[in-house]
Amino acid sequence: MTGYAQLKKTLLRGLFLFFISMIVFSGLQASPSEEGKPISGKLFGLFFEDINYAADGGLYAEMVQNRSFEYSPTEQPGWNPLAFWEYIDPGFSIGRIHVQTNEPIHPNNPTYIVLDVEVVGNYPQHEGESGVGLKNHGFGGMVVREGENYHFSLFGRLLSDQPVNLRVSLEDPEGELISEESFQIHSKDWEKYETSLTAIASHDSAYVQVLIQSPGELALDMISLFPENTFKNRKNGLRADLAQVLADMKPRFLRFPGGCLVHGDGLGNMYRWKNTVGPVEERKAQRNIWGYHQTGGFGFFEFIQFSEDLGAIPIPILPAAVSCQNSGGTHVIGGAGQKALCLLDMEEYIQDIFDLIEWANGPETSKWGAVRAQAGRSEPFGLTYIGIGNEDKKTPEFIERFTMIYNAVKEKHPEIEIIGSSGPFSEGEDFEKGWELANRLGLSVVDEHYYQQTDWYIANQNRYDGYDRKASSVYLGEYASWGNTLYNAIVEAAYMTSLERNGDLVIMASYAPLLAKRDFNQWSTNLIYFDNVNIVPTPNYYVQKMFMTNQGDYYHEGVVALASDDVLVAASVTTDGQKGDVILKLVNLHETPREMPVDLSRFSGLVDRAVLTVLAGEPTAENTFNQPVKITPVQSEMHINKTFTYQAPPMSLSILRIGRNK
Ligand code: AHR
Repeated sequence: MTGYAQLKKTLLRGLFLFFISMIVFSGLQASPSEEGKPISGKLFGLFFEDINYAADGGLYAEMVQNRSFEYSPTEQPGWNPLAFWEYIDPGFSIGRIHVQTNEPIHPNNPTYIVLDVEVVGNYPQHEGESGVGLKNHGFGGMVVREGENYHFSLFGRLLSDQPVNLRVSLEDPEGELISEESFQIHSKDWEKYETSLTAIASHDSAYVQVLIQSPGELALDMISLFPENTFKNRKNGLRADLAQVLADMKPRFLRFPGGCLVHGDGLGNMYRWKNTVGPVEERKAQRNIWGYHQTGGFGFFEFIQFSEDLGAIPIPILPAAVSCQNSGGTHVIGGAGQKALCLLDMEEYIQDIFDLIEWANGPETSKWGAVRAQAGRSEPFGLTYIGIGNEDKKTPEFIERFTMIYNAVKEKHPEIEIIGSSGPFSEGEDFEKGWELANRLGLSVVDEHYYQQTDWYIANQNRYDGYDRKASSVYLGEYASWGNTLYNAIVEAAYMTSLERNGDLVIMASYAPLLAKRDFNQWSTNLIYFDNVNIVPTPNYYVQKMFMTNQGDYYHEGVVALASDDVLVAASVTTDGQKGDVILKLVNLHETPREMPVDLSRFSGLVDRAVLTVLAGEPTAENTFNQPVKITPVQSEMHINKTFTYQAPPMSLSILRIGRNK
């Protein structure tokens, strides 16, 4: 070989090696030798339902309870338009209050109050405190913090001739002033009046008080108080601390609005998205299926906005034109059980779904795109998924209506992926029929739901291994083991490694329910407990968070050598498609440590240390309001070699995340 040929060969070889090392070490792409199975990049996300006071009184930051005077005895015995309001007339003032429904702000919001003030007394107990008005303690006391601003608003309509003076104040339970502002109601038409209240002290049980301080007659509605500091400072926004706990999970999708809340307690109670968009005073509140009041304030706009704020794909679920099969007794018009919408109403119902797609994705010049734009969002949201139905009983009526909806939406909007459902259980008649329907229609995704004991999850870790890859993908939309102990959480972790292994088929999975308010819990197990002040993430939360913040795009077989007959150990290994990080999830359900041999030799250019996150402890341990951080993950750094043996602690989930050399 001539010197020139030799040089050319060396250069070409160098160039070849350079490109290979670029591919291997850049971390942008896995080398062929380490190529894994592509899996869903949106596997783990959140399920949100207004159960357990998750929305009103929970995540939705409105501090006033029954702000629009729409509470009614059909929601809970004893509730009425004045529930959670206290009529007051300090300083020996004289007046009266009554409830009205003629000429409301909007027909969707029919009830309001009228205050007549005859005498404003001159014997104030506290300076400024005389007049006729109302007090509201919110959802068990309002949490205010010194130096923070609170946005107060109400709708007023003057019924007498002279403008009336109105004073609004925040006070602690002893009546000590936390903040006050005054303004005049001057218009004979409904008008919105707003002011900002700055707290000069902190309190967990404050109340808001509205006092009319000059004689006159006045209609009031939509009396509202929000912290200015909502999550991402959104107007009509969400409780910042609670939303942050969800944001910390980095969910890849957000399902909304449920759950059984979707198909509702009888036909008239189905969740209709149009009732939840537009100005809040024009939204239609209703009793939700869980037996309390749903303002619709946290509606479709806020849900998609929150999804974007989380970096999550919005997954709205709409009723399949049938009500929940568990619809209740006498209070439900039409009686108990699943009820189907009249076929004559289906065209209008399907149009509502088309309108939702236009509202979310249409230009601002379109009819429904304009409604979105008026709410402050001119750019389309880019909705890609819609679920039709929530674990419905697969009756002929359901099947007929689902098919009509599916065919119509597919024809007009082939770009939208429709999610079908397979009933409330992991098997059985509805499950079979749901899948039969999915196969017949060629659905792209089926929503499975199951709540089971821990033993079931341990025994069914191979559930999806044998599913037909040519049929629909799976969205495991609701699942949980019955309990919030560490043991429950670690069992779920073991099961989740099987979801990753099957991440080519299972494209999304969400634990349910998400939130439960202290003293208002309606479900045995939940991911996060909270009250007005405290937040208690369960061990199950930490498992979900650890999986969500460590999602991969490729699954790799055979990296961790586990005894195939030991169902109490589990592992999954994935790589992140962007950074190339290798992510090991190692689960030990034994009450003693287990050795887990790891062979990383197929992965090139790995750094020699891993970020190790471990969740471990006593199997029966739980987080409680008294001990909210008994079980939390611990992070450290660990030196690693190409091959090593990991000592998995008893009852643990360990995640090792290994980066690549730059
Ligand atoms: O997650 C709680 C409930 O469980 C949901 O509303 C329902 O879909 C399921 O049965």
